[in-house]
Amino acid sequence: MSAMTEQTDPMIAIQGLHKTFTLHTQNGATISALQSLDLTVSGGECVVVRGASGAGKSSLLRCVYGNYRAGGGAIWVRHQGAMVDVAKAEPRTILDMRRTTMGFVSQFLRVIPRIPTLDLVMEPLLTAGRSAEEAREQAGTILTHLNLPQRLWSLAPATFSGGEQQRVNIARAMVWDYPVLLLDEPTASLDRENRAAVVELILAARSRGAAILGVFHDREAGDAVATDTIELRANRLAA
Ligand SMILES: Nc1ncnc2c1ncn2[C@@H]1O[C@H](COP(=O)(O)OP(=O)(O)O)[C@@H](O)[C@H]1O
Ligand SMILES: [Mg+2]
Repeated sequence: MSAMTEQTDPMIAIQGLHKTFTLHTQNGATISALQSLDLTVSGGECVVVRGASGAGKSSLLRCVYGNYRAGGGAIWVRHQGAMVDVAKAEPRTILDMRRTTMGFVSQFLRVIPRIPTLDLVMEPLLTAGRSAEEAREQAGTILTHLNLPQRLWSLAPATFSGGEQQRVNIARAMVWDYPVLLLDEPTASLDRENRAAVVELILAARSRGAAILGVFHDREAGDAVATDTIELRANRLAA
């Protein structure tokens, strides 16, 4: 990898990735979610992952984020200037990568603790060493961009609508300039206006050189941000 020029250096390089699930409730039957997957994403690129429901799109993103352990193959992600294989990395390295390198918007809303919205969105900036004042200003800017009214900022998102919670998730993942972004159907529960606001954020992230791997529920949003697409085929029962 070091022989490549900086411009073509991938941020994500996946080689021969396999992921199989064993269903213990069904006599140990196995589902092959990903088979021999190869994929690279460089800075400024957004690779859109397509495929039917159950094709393995979320599993792929979760493997890259280290939520799911790869069953085989390598998942190289550039972290602080070196390529790290997430498939083999120590849990503490993966946590470190999540702090500074990888941002993730999950398809299903994570349980969000009882922390005010503004604090949740400021947190990644404070972790990265920004001052409270700067963090507050940037968090406010992205929340405003995502049309979250200021009266909600002091409230915990637990009582928010699905679309509002999803926008808090997006704000948290995109407020800090993570070099790698993993986006799993970030626009699924949003109306047209907010989908457009998210598309703008993704295009801005591409412009600043982020490497993005995304799954999009709506074709239009995917087409608007994609520099390349990959199609996954539906899983098969392996045994
Ligand atoms: N934690 C899990 N345990 C067992 N099977 C899983 C798990 N996660 C995903 N799967 C299975 O793997 C396949 C791919 O799922 P997923 O990656 O969520 O697909 P997609 O996001 O493309 O709809 C599906 O058959 C799904 O049921
Ligand atoms: Mg999915």
